[in-house]
Amino acid sequence: MLEKFIKDEKAELILEGKKYELPIIEGVEGEKAIDIRSLRKDSGYITLDSGYMNTGSCASEITFLDGEEGILNYRGYSIEDLAEKCSFVEVAYLLVHGSLPTEDQRQEFSRMLSDNALIHEDMIHFFDSFPVNSPPMAILSSMVSSLCSFYPEMTENPFENIDKMAARLLSKVRTIAAFSYKKSKGQPLVYPRHDLSYCANFLNMMFDSPVKPYEIQPEVVAALNKLLILHGDHEQNCSTSTVRLVGSARVNLYASISAGISALWGPLHGGANQAVMDMLENIYHYDNGDFMKYVDRAKDPNDSFRLAGFGHRVYKTFDPRMRIIKKACNEVLEALNVQDPLLDIAKSLEEVALNDEYFLKRNLYPNVDFYSGIIYRAIGIPNNMFTVMFALGRLPGWIAHWKEMWDDPNWRIGRPRQIYIGPPCRPFVEIEDRVAE
Ligand code: CMC
Repeated sequence: MLEKFIKDEKAELILEGKKYELPIIEGVEGEKAIDIRSLRKDSGYITLDSGYMNTGSCASEITFLDGEEGILNYRGYSIEDLAEKCSFVEVAYLLVHGSLPTEDQRQEFSRMLSDNALIHEDMIHFFDSFPVNSPPMAILSSMVSSLCSFYPEMTENPFENIDKMAARLLSKVRTIAAFSYKKSKGQPLVYPRHDLSYCANFLNMMFDSPVKPYEIQPEVVAALNKLLILHGDHEQNCSTSTVRLVGSARVNLYASISAGISALWGPLHGGANQAVMDMLENIYHYDNGDFMKYVDRAKDPNDSFRLAGFGHRVYKTFDPRMRIIKKACNEVLEALNVQDPLLDIAKSLEEVALNDEYFLKRNLYPNVDFYSGIIYRAIGIPNNMFTVMFALGRLPGWIAHWKEMWDDPNWRIGRPRQIYIGPPCRPFVEIEDRVAE
């Protein structure tokens, strides 16, 4: 697959007076790489790249991202078009299969999602064993891992069953997410319904109750669809790389995705959406709206505080997802007639940061997580569920990457090297002769 992207020209590297020729690879959208796959074998050298800032870990057909131009495409389609014109189910199908579904394929996929929506009744007892106030991400990660015990047949020949496996995961993770919320509230579980669309079903499981039936509002369903689409994939981010790395040891999809959920939990990654809302609430409730205090702290070199929802490893001009979410945020709040003072604080923070030398010099712009929490809050989803929502959206991307990695003829177990900087080889010391170091 990669061979047809190798260019005729080569990069030259001189080490200890010896010249090495390294192939150049150019991707479909013109992104360039130096192929160092045989470097250590030929020269004895490795490359060192903490945080993988310059390292391509694979070639992929799923998502194209240009951080300088603010472009994000899934399977060649722009995120703007997909967010405007598709449902999350269509985009999930696109990510996993590589093409948008026809109407028949969409219906069949939706039917599989509905058919797989229940979780094994025995799994429901697990929820009772988690202490009240358990982080929903901890519950989600454990429950996804345990799916392997209840549905082991899917781990044997994943490719024969990949359609079913994708539908099963997308559907059951949604149910697990809603059940974990209900348990945390001490409310009875609401089972999935066959007649509802993917997002409407989720909202109904979250908010319906025996004493107050949930009224499904089309604006809320549309907003949720959009948010999930925007989180669908983001090429080799921390959690997706985790899914690939864990899966590269040939472990099953459930275990790989459970590891991805744990990576996503971090406040520098998917956990940032909750951190943004916590920060905005602190500014509003405890600091009298004084957002400048937070800007000053973020700029102080002696303070480790960072403005949550700002900055991105890859986007250096703007995050295209943020623009769509900001617009959707204004629309949803207006449609639901919600006035949220946190939105005003968020806009003021953005305004200050976009004109401040510190943020400009470091290319720090609001990212996807900056406004998403305000929409979630407006539709009733609590802060500690935000990262679970991100996981729900990212699920088709993780599945697509796991599948691509599994199928890749260049597949190897992921195993980086290192430069050792510990003590040099030394003689062993018997316990009676040891002194504390
Ligand atoms: N507030 C203040 N300063 C910042 C911020 C921020 N949010 N982000 C980066 N910086 C500064 C950082 O201190 C450093 O300054 P200096 O050069 O003076 O040391 C400079 O900008 C470069 O930062 P970095 O840590 O080298 O950048 P990175 O590419 O390694 O990190 C990031 C990217 C997203 C982890 C980081 O910008 C960050 O911590 N942002 C806040 C958390 C956040 O919003 N994460 C969500 C990311 S988007 C969704 C996702 O990936 O899940």
